[in-house]
Order: sequence, then C-alpha cells, then structure tokens
Amino acid sequence: MTKQIQTHPTNFVVEKPFGPFLASCMLPEDAVSAMLKMSDEILSNKLSESHGQSLAGVINKEMKVYKSDMKNAGVNQLLESCVRSYVIQSAKNHGMFKETYTFESMINAAWIVSQYENEYNPIHNHSGCDISAVIYLKCPDVKSRRNLEAKKGKIDFDGDIHFVHSAMGSRNYDVFERGMLNIVPTPGLLLMFPSYLTHTVYPFVGEGERRSLPFNAVYRITDENRFIAGDVSNVVHTTFYTKEKPNECSLMSEKNNILQEK
Ligand SMILES: [Fe+2]
Repeated sequence: MTKQIQTHPTNFVVEKPFGPFLASCMLPEDAVSAMLKMSDEILSNKLSESHGQSLAGVINKEMKVYKSDMKNAGVNQLLESCVRSYVIQSAKNHGMFKETYTFESMINAAWIVSQYENEYNPIHNHSGCDISAVIYLKCPDVKSRRNLEAKKGKIDFDGDIHFVHSAMGSRNYDVFERGMLNIVPTPGLLLMFPSYLTHTVYPFVGEGERRSLPFNAVYRITDENRFIAGDVSNVVHTTFYTKEKPNECSLMSEKNNILQEK
C-alpha cells in the first residue's frame, strides 16, 4: 500500500471575507439612565410628536427624538463617537483604512419605540441613511408566556430582533454561513448595522413595555478631496433631527392656526 503523505498544507485559514460588519456594545449605566429619563419625558409630554407615519412598525407609540434632546440628556457625544468607531473599525476590517483619511459621520434621525403586547415591527430596512442602530432601554422578560403545549421547552423569539442578510445561508445542518441572526435584547445594549440590512422585531404577549431608542446615521470617508466610501450624494440627508425642536408656544399657535382655518 502506498504510504500516505504526512506533510500538511500551509496558510490554512477559515474566514468570512464578505457579509456585513455589525457592532455591539454595552453602554454605561449613567448613559442608560439618562436616556430612560429623556424617553420618559418625551413619552409623557402630550406635545411630543409621533414619528409613526415614517416607520414600518405596527406600534402605536414611536416618538421623535431631537438632537437637542440627546444633548440635554448628555449622550450626544457618546453616541456620535460610537458611530465613528463603527465606521473606522469597519474600514479597518475591510482593508480601507489609512491614517491620512478623513472620517466624517453624523446621526441624522432618532426616535423612541414604546412597544406593548401584540405590537411588532415587520421586516424592513432604513432609507435616507447609511448606518442604523438601536439602543435597548426596557426589556421585560417575555419568554415562554404563550404556553403552547406542542412547544414546551422550546425557546421562542418573542420580543427579539432578527436580522436577515441571506435566507439561503441559513439552513439547518449546514455550517458554512449564518445568513440570519437573532438577538435577545437587554437594557444598555447598542447594536449598529448597515441601514440596508433587513430586520424584524417579533411581538410578545402580556404585561410590560419593551422600549428602544433606534437612530440612523450617515458617514463619508475621503482622502483630501477624493471620495473613498460612504454617502455618495455629498448631500447630508437632513431630517427633523437636527432642526430646532418645536416648543410649546409654536405647537400651540400651529394648532390654533389649524383650528382657525377650519
Ligand atoms: Fe428598524
């Protein structure tokens, strides 16, 4: 019998050279309490504006958050620096990083999602931005509440966020690709992902509020004046976020004008 060769291959690597880069971190406790306080105020203020008409969620309370709200809560710099770190680290992972490059990024929308029993977010992605993110503020323990006899002992997806990058890559009994990713939210967790990445949030049953603070951002990488990556339009997609927050007086006079017109 021929003796089998005993030498080994060299440079054997198993890596994931494509697919989206996701970032996650746990935000410090003081930042989480500041955002909880900020969101309590926005949710309880009758003059706060709904963002629901622009969002996919089958959720009643989705309220606008302004940059001035973030600044007043003291979290603006922290969140902007998280976005910047995500861009820089992704550029490094992608082999598109140079010390001489200019990295610019900016949050351009934010809102509070106050989700209750049976509400959900159908599969969607975000437009008018390059980066999307979500911070979890309240996460009731909603698991195993349905008590389905046939599903006893099996973990459910209630209240989870689910990312779908490639449905083809997610099959049972296959180790080569993870095309879908399920994450169980926990208070303080910040997730950042490319805004094209589709995701969904499952409903839950029973008591409690699942509260999150999603936001969008844009970025651009340039080398002197040469475009490298990011926002190709060279026009920052502005939303309500950076505008002046309407105060009580302006909202009341707007309401009066509408009433007078009627
Ligand atoms: Fe979303």
